[in-house]
Amino acid sequence: MPDIESGLQSGGCSLVVSFVEKSIPVDWAKAWDEQFRKRGLLARLERAGISPETFWDTYGRFQASVANDSYPGKALLKILSLVAAGDCVVDVGAGDGAYSVPLARYVKSVIAIEPSSSQLNYLQKAVSQSGLNNIQIVPERWEEVGTSGLKPCDVVLASYSFQVPDIGEAINKMLTVTGKRLILVYYAGCDLVNLNRRLFNLQPQPDYRYLYNLLRQLGYEPGLEKVTRNFCVKLDNQLEMLGYNPGLTREQTNILKHELFKMGMVAKERDGYWLKRQQTDAIITVDVKKKDGCKENV
Ligand SMILES: C[S@@+](CC[C@H](N)C(=O)[O-])C[C@H]1O[C@@H](n2cnc3c(N)ncnc32)[C@H](O)[C@@H]1O
Repeated sequence: MPDIESGLQSGGCSLVVSFVEKSIPVDWAKAWDEQFRKRGLLARLERAGISPETFWDTYGRFQASVANDSYPGKALLKILSLVAAGDCVVDVGAGDGAYSVPLARYVKSVIAIEPSSSQLNYLQKAVSQSGLNNIQIVPERWEEVGTSGLKPCDVVLASYSFQVPDIGEAINKMLTVTGKRLILVYYAGCDLVNLNRRLFNLQPQPDYRYLYNLLRQLGYEPGLEKVTRNFCVKLDNQLEMLGYNPGLTREQTNILKHELFKMGMVAKERDGYWLKRQQTDAIITVDVKKKDGCKENV
Protein backbone atom coordinates (compact mmCIF):
# COMPACT_ATOMS: atom_id res chain seq x y z
CA MET A 1 0.00 0.00 0.00
CA PRO A 2 1.44 3.43 -0.85
CA ASP A 3 2.01 5.99 1.85
CA ILE A 4 -0.70 8.54 2.36
CA GLU A 5 -0.38 11.85 0.58
CA SER A 6 0.71 14.55 2.93
CA GLY A 7 1.63 18.23 2.78
CA LEU A 8 4.27 19.02 5.37
CA GLN A 9 5.45 22.48 6.35
CA SER A 10 9.20 22.25 6.67
CA GLY A 11 10.86 25.50 7.76
CA GLY A 12 9.54 28.10 5.37
CA CYS A 13 8.84 25.71 2.52
CA SER A 14 6.13 23.25 1.86
CA LEU A 15 7.28 19.70 1.27
CA VAL A 16 4.75 17.57 -0.53
CA VAL A 17 5.01 13.80 -0.48
CA SER A 18 2.74 12.64 -3.21
CA PHE A 19 0.68 9.49 -3.47
CA VAL A 20 2.52 8.37 -6.58
CA GLU A 21 5.80 10.27 -6.53
CA LYS A 22 7.71 8.92 -3.55
CA SER A 23 11.08 10.48 -4.16
CA ILE A 24 11.49 12.50 -0.96
CA PRO A 25 12.28 10.41 2.11
CA VAL A 26 10.62 11.81 5.21
CA ASP A 27 11.48 10.84 8.75
CA TRP A 28 7.89 10.80 9.99
CA ALA A 29 8.77 10.62 13.69
CA LYS A 30 11.06 13.63 13.37
CA ALA A 31 8.50 15.48 11.25
CA TRP A 32 5.80 14.86 13.89
CA ASP A 33 8.07 15.99 16.74
CA GLU A 34 9.02 19.17 14.86
CA GLN A 35 5.39 20.01 14.06
CA PHE A 36 4.29 19.10 17.55
CA ARG A 37 6.93 21.31 19.19
CA LYS A 38 5.71 24.23 17.06
CA ARG A 39 1.96 23.77 17.05
CA GLY A 40 1.13 20.77 19.19
CA LEU A 41 -1.15 21.00 22.20
CA LEU A 42 1.66 21.51 24.74
CA ALA A 43 3.26 24.30 22.67
CA ARG A 44 -0.09 26.03 22.33
CA LEU A 45 -0.80 25.80 26.03
CA GLU A 46 2.64 27.15 26.87
CA ARG A 47 2.09 30.14 24.56
CA ALA A 48 -1.29 30.79 26.17
CA GLY A 49 0.28 30.50 29.67
CA ILE A 50 -1.96 27.58 30.64
CA SER A 51 -0.74 24.48 32.46
CA PRO A 52 -1.62 21.08 30.97
CA GLU A 53 -3.48 20.24 34.20
CA THR A 54 -5.72 23.33 33.83
CA PHE A 55 -6.36 22.31 30.24
CA TRP A 56 -7.35 18.71 31.07
CA ASP A 57 -9.60 20.00 33.81
CA THR A 58 -11.41 22.29 31.33
CA TYR A 59 -11.40 19.48 28.79
CA GLY A 60 -13.24 17.30 31.29
CA ARG A 61 -15.97 19.95 31.62
CA PHE A 62 -16.06 20.34 27.85
CA GLN A 63 -16.53 16.59 27.40
CA ALA A 64 -19.30 16.60 29.98
CA SER A 65 -21.12 19.34 28.02
CA VAL A 66 -21.08 17.43 24.74
CA ALA A 67 -24.51 16.19 23.69
CA ASN A 68 -25.60 13.61 21.11
CA ASP A 69 -22.02 12.51 21.33
CA SER A 70 -21.12 9.59 19.18
CA TYR A 71 -17.66 9.28 20.74
CA PRO A 72 -16.18 6.74 20.91
CA GLY A 73 -19.23 5.22 19.14
CA LYS A 74 -18.24 3.64 15.84
CA ALA A 75 -14.55 3.76 16.77
CA LEU A 76 -15.29 1.71 19.89
CA LEU A 77 -17.25 -0.84 17.85
CA LYS A 78 -14.30 -1.22 15.49
CA ILE A 79 -11.89 -1.61 18.39
CA LEU A 80 -14.12 -4.19 20.07
CA SER A 81 -13.89 -6.22 16.87
CA LEU A 82 -10.10 -6.20 17.22
CA VAL A 83 -9.86 -7.60 20.75
CA ALA A 84 -10.58 -11.06 22.14
CA ALA A 85 -12.19 -12.12 25.41
CA GLY A 86 -8.90 -13.36 26.89
CA ASP A 87 -6.90 -10.22 26.04
CA CYS A 88 -5.06 -7.87 28.33
CA VAL A 89 -5.35 -4.33 26.91
CA VAL A 90 -3.14 -1.37 27.80
CA ASP A 91 -4.97 1.93 27.26
CA VAL A 92 -2.39 4.73 26.99
CA GLY A 93 -3.80 8.11 28.10
CA ALA A 94 -7.11 6.59 29.14
CA GLY A 95 -8.69 9.96 30.03
CA ASP A 96 -12.15 9.49 31.54
CA GLY A 97 -12.24 5.82 30.55
CA ALA A 98 -14.16 6.25 27.28
CA TYR A 99 -12.45 3.10 25.98
CA SER A 100 -11.09 1.45 29.14
CA VAL A 101 -14.47 0.88 30.77
CA PRO A 102 -16.40 -0.58 27.81
CA LEU A 103 -13.37 -2.63 26.77
CA ALA A 104 -13.06 -4.09 30.27
CA ARG A 105 -16.55 -5.56 29.89
CA TYR A 106 -15.30 -7.68 26.98
CA VAL A 107 -11.64 -8.46 27.65
CA LYS A 108 -9.82 -10.16 30.52
CA SER A 109 -8.15 -7.04 31.90
CA VAL A 110 -7.34 -3.41 31.13
CA ILE A 111 -4.36 -1.39 32.32
CA ALA A 112 -5.34 2.27 32.09
CA ILE A 113 -2.38 4.67 31.98
CA GLU A 114 -3.46 8.22 32.90
CA PRO A 115 -1.18 10.94 34.33
CA SER A 116 -3.59 13.90 34.72
CA SER A 117 -5.10 14.16 38.20
CA SER A 118 -8.35 15.71 36.95
CA GLN A 119 -8.77 13.05 34.25
CA LEU A 120 -7.91 10.43 36.88
CA ASN A 121 -10.86 11.63 38.94
CA TYR A 122 -13.21 11.07 36.00
CA LEU A 123 -11.60 7.69 35.31
CA GLN A 124 -11.81 6.49 38.91
CA LYS A 125 -15.46 7.56 39.08
CA ALA A 126 -16.29 5.73 35.83
CA VAL A 127 -14.49 2.59 37.01
CA SER A 128 -16.23 2.53 40.37
CA GLN A 129 -19.64 3.21 38.77
CA SER A 130 -19.06 0.33 36.35
CA GLY A 131 -18.59 -2.17 39.19
CA LEU A 132 -15.75 -3.75 37.20
CA ASN A 133 -12.70 -5.09 39.03
CA ASN A 134 -10.44 -5.87 36.07
CA ILE A 135 -9.17 -2.33 35.42
CA GLN A 136 -5.80 -1.38 36.88
CA ILE A 137 -5.04 2.34 36.87
CA VAL A 138 -1.46 3.52 36.47
CA PRO A 139 -1.18 7.28 37.19
CA GLU A 140 1.91 7.95 35.10
CA ARG A 141 3.00 9.40 31.78
CA TRP A 142 3.57 6.83 29.06
CA GLU A 143 7.22 7.82 28.62
CA GLU A 144 7.80 7.21 32.35
CA VAL A 145 5.93 3.93 32.82
CA GLY A 146 8.11 0.87 33.43
CA THR A 147 7.36 -1.80 30.84
CA SER A 148 7.96 -4.90 32.99
CA GLY A 149 4.54 -4.58 34.69
CA LEU A 150 2.80 -4.23 31.32
CA LYS A 151 4.26 -7.28 29.57
CA PRO A 152 2.96 -9.48 28.22
CA CYS A 153 -0.15 -7.59 27.13
CA ASP A 154 -2.04 -8.47 23.97
CA VAL A 155 -3.23 -5.10 22.72
CA VAL A 156 -2.01 -1.52 23.21
CA LEU A 157 -4.52 1.23 22.48
CA ALA A 158 -3.64 4.94 22.31
CA SER A 159 -6.39 7.35 21.40
CA TYR A 160 -5.67 11.09 21.14
CA SER A 161 -2.96 10.67 23.78
CA PHE A 162 0.19 11.50 21.85
CA GLN A 163 1.39 14.43 23.98
CA VAL A 164 4.85 12.90 24.34
CA PRO A 165 8.32 14.41 23.87
CA ASP A 166 9.43 11.79 21.33
CA ILE A 167 6.74 10.12 19.21
CA GLY A 168 9.15 7.55 17.75
CA GLU A 169 10.17 6.38 21.22
CA ALA A 170 6.57 6.35 22.43
CA ILE A 171 5.33 4.24 19.50
CA ASN A 172 8.31 1.88 19.74
CA LYS A 173 7.59 1.39 23.43
CA MET A 174 3.98 0.52 22.58
CA LEU A 175 5.20 -1.99 19.98
CA THR A 176 7.61 -3.54 22.50
CA VAL A 177 4.88 -4.04 25.08
CA THR A 178 2.19 -5.53 22.85
CA GLY A 179 2.13 -9.19 21.84
CA LYS A 180 -0.60 -8.99 19.20
CA ARG A 181 -1.87 -5.63 18.11
CA LEU A 182 -1.35 -1.88 18.33
CA ILE A 183 -4.35 0.39 17.82
CA LEU A 184 -4.00 4.16 17.39
CA VAL A 185 -6.90 6.61 17.11
CA TYR A 186 -6.30 10.16 15.92
CA TYR A 187 -7.61 13.14 13.93
CA ALA A 188 -8.46 12.66 10.29
CA GLY A 189 -10.44 15.87 9.79
CA CYS A 190 -12.32 18.38 11.87
CA ASP A 191 -14.68 21.22 10.96
CA LEU A 192 -13.11 23.79 13.31
CA VAL A 193 -9.55 23.01 12.19
CA ASN A 194 -10.59 23.82 8.61
CA LEU A 195 -12.32 27.00 9.73
CA ASN A 196 -9.35 28.20 11.79
CA ARG A 197 -7.09 27.63 8.82
CA ARG A 198 -9.40 29.61 6.51
CA LEU A 199 -10.02 32.50 8.92
CA PHE A 200 -6.65 32.85 10.67
CA ASN A 201 -4.24 30.78 8.60
CA LEU A 202 -3.70 28.60 11.66
CA GLN A 203 -1.87 25.44 10.65
CA PRO A 204 -3.24 22.28 12.25
CA GLN A 205 -1.37 19.88 14.49
CA PRO A 206 0.17 16.83 12.81
CA ASP A 207 -2.60 14.37 12.02
CA TYR A 208 -3.07 10.60 11.65
CA ARG A 209 -1.03 10.47 8.42
CA TYR A 210 2.17 10.98 10.37
CA LEU A 211 1.40 8.02 12.64
CA TYR A 212 0.37 5.85 9.71
CA ASN A 213 3.52 6.60 7.73
CA LEU A 214 5.71 6.29 10.81
CA LEU A 215 4.46 2.72 11.26
CA ARG A 216 5.10 1.94 7.60
CA GLN A 217 8.58 3.30 7.99
CA LEU A 218 9.06 0.83 10.86
CA GLY A 219 8.20 -1.99 8.46
CA TYR A 220 4.49 -2.58 9.16
CA GLU A 221 1.47 -2.55 6.85
CA PRO A 222 -1.06 -0.71 9.03
CA GLY A 223 -4.79 -1.10 8.58
CA LEU A 224 -6.72 2.15 8.32
CA GLU A 225 -10.37 2.97 8.84
CA LYS A 226 -12.05 6.35 9.30
CA VAL A 227 -15.24 7.10 11.17
CA THR A 228 -17.06 10.41 11.20
CA ARG A 229 -19.13 11.60 14.14
CA ASN A 230 -21.59 14.44 14.49
CA PHE A 231 -22.21 15.96 17.87
CA CYS A 232 -23.36 19.13 19.63
CA VAL A 233 -21.56 21.13 22.28
CA LYS A 234 -22.47 24.25 24.26
CA LEU A 235 -21.10 27.17 22.24
CA ASP A 236 -19.52 28.83 25.29
CA ASN A 237 -17.69 25.64 26.31
CA GLN A 238 -16.36 25.22 22.80
CA LEU A 239 -15.15 28.82 22.59
CA GLU A 240 -13.44 28.46 25.97
CA MET A 241 -11.62 25.35 24.70
CA LEU A 242 -10.53 27.18 21.55
CA GLY A 243 -8.99 29.90 23.71
CA TYR A 244 -6.74 27.13 25.12
CA ASN A 245 -6.24 25.08 22.00
CA PRO A 246 -5.32 26.39 19.43
CA GLY A 247 -5.14 29.49 21.69
CA LEU A 248 -7.44 31.89 19.84
CA THR A 249 -7.30 35.51 20.99
CA ARG A 250 -10.48 37.21 22.19
CA GLU A 251 -10.72 39.00 18.84
CA GLN A 252 -10.28 35.77 16.86
CA THR A 253 -12.87 34.08 19.06
CA ASN A 254 -15.38 36.81 18.23
CA ILE A 255 -14.66 36.54 14.50
CA LEU A 256 -15.06 32.77 14.66
CA LYS A 257 -18.28 33.06 16.65
CA HIS A 258 -19.73 35.42 14.05
CA GLU A 259 -18.71 32.99 11.27
CA LEU A 260 -20.27 30.02 13.08
CA PHE A 261 -23.60 31.84 13.27
CA LYS A 262 -23.28 32.89 9.62
CA MET A 263 -22.62 29.31 8.54
CA GLY A 264 -25.71 28.07 10.38
CA MET A 265 -23.65 25.89 12.74
CA VAL A 266 -25.26 27.34 15.87
CA ALA A 267 -28.74 26.49 17.15
CA LYS A 268 -30.60 28.37 19.87
CA GLU A 269 -32.18 26.08 22.44
CA ARG A 270 -34.01 26.85 25.67
CA ASP A 271 -30.79 26.42 27.66
CA GLY A 272 -28.61 28.57 25.38
CA TYR A 273 -26.62 28.27 22.15
CA TRP A 274 -25.38 24.91 20.87
CA LEU A 275 -22.77 24.30 18.20
CA LYS A 276 -23.15 21.48 15.67
CA ARG A 277 -19.81 19.78 15.14
CA GLN A 278 -18.28 17.12 12.96
CA GLN A 279 -15.03 15.22 13.36
CA THR A 280 -13.44 12.25 11.66
CA ASP A 281 -11.29 9.78 13.60
CA ALA A 282 -8.76 7.50 11.95
CA ILE A 283 -8.26 4.05 13.46
CA ILE A 284 -4.83 2.70 12.61
CA THR A 285 -4.10 -0.93 13.42
CA VAL A 286 -0.92 -2.92 13.34
CA ASP A 287 -0.61 -6.66 13.69
CA VAL A 288 2.79 -6.75 15.38
CA LYS A 289 3.64 -10.26 14.16
CA LYS A 290 3.42 -9.14 10.54
CA LYS A 291 6.49 -7.03 10.06
CA ASP A 292 8.12 -7.17 6.67
CA GLY A 293 11.04 -4.79 6.68
CA CYS A 294 11.53 -1.06 6.76
CA LYS A 295 9.90 0.96 3.99
CA GLU A 296 12.34 3.79 3.60
CA ASN A 297 11.12 5.27 0.37
CA VAL A 298 8.05 7.11 1.58
C1 LIG B 1 -7.77 13.81 24.58
S1 LIG B 1 -7.62 12.78 25.96
C2 LIG B 1 -8.11 11.23 25.28
C3 LIG B 1 -8.61 10.27 26.31
C4 LIG B 1 -9.04 8.89 25.76
N1 LIG B 1 -7.90 8.16 25.24
C5 LIG B 1 -10.09 9.06 24.71
O1 LIG B 1 -9.82 8.86 23.51
O2 LIG B 1 -11.22 9.40 25.08
C6 LIG B 1 -5.86 12.58 26.10
C7 LIG B 1 -5.44 11.93 27.43
O3 LIG B 1 -4.04 11.60 27.32
C8 LIG B 1 -3.43 11.90 28.55
N2 LIG B 1 -2.00 12.15 28.31
C9 LIG B 1 -1.41 13.29 27.92
N3 LIG B 1 -0.08 13.14 27.82
C10 LIG B 1 0.16 11.83 28.16
C11 LIG B 1 1.36 11.05 28.26
N4 LIG B 1 2.55 11.57 27.99
N5 LIG B 1 1.25 9.76 28.64
C12 LIG B 1 0.04 9.21 28.91
N6 LIG B 1 -1.13 9.91 28.82
C13 LIG B 1 -1.06 11.20 28.46
C14 LIG B 1 -4.14 13.14 29.05
O4 LIG B 1 -3.99 13.31 30.45
C15 LIG B 1 -5.57 12.87 28.61
O5 LIG B 1 -6.33 12.26 29.60
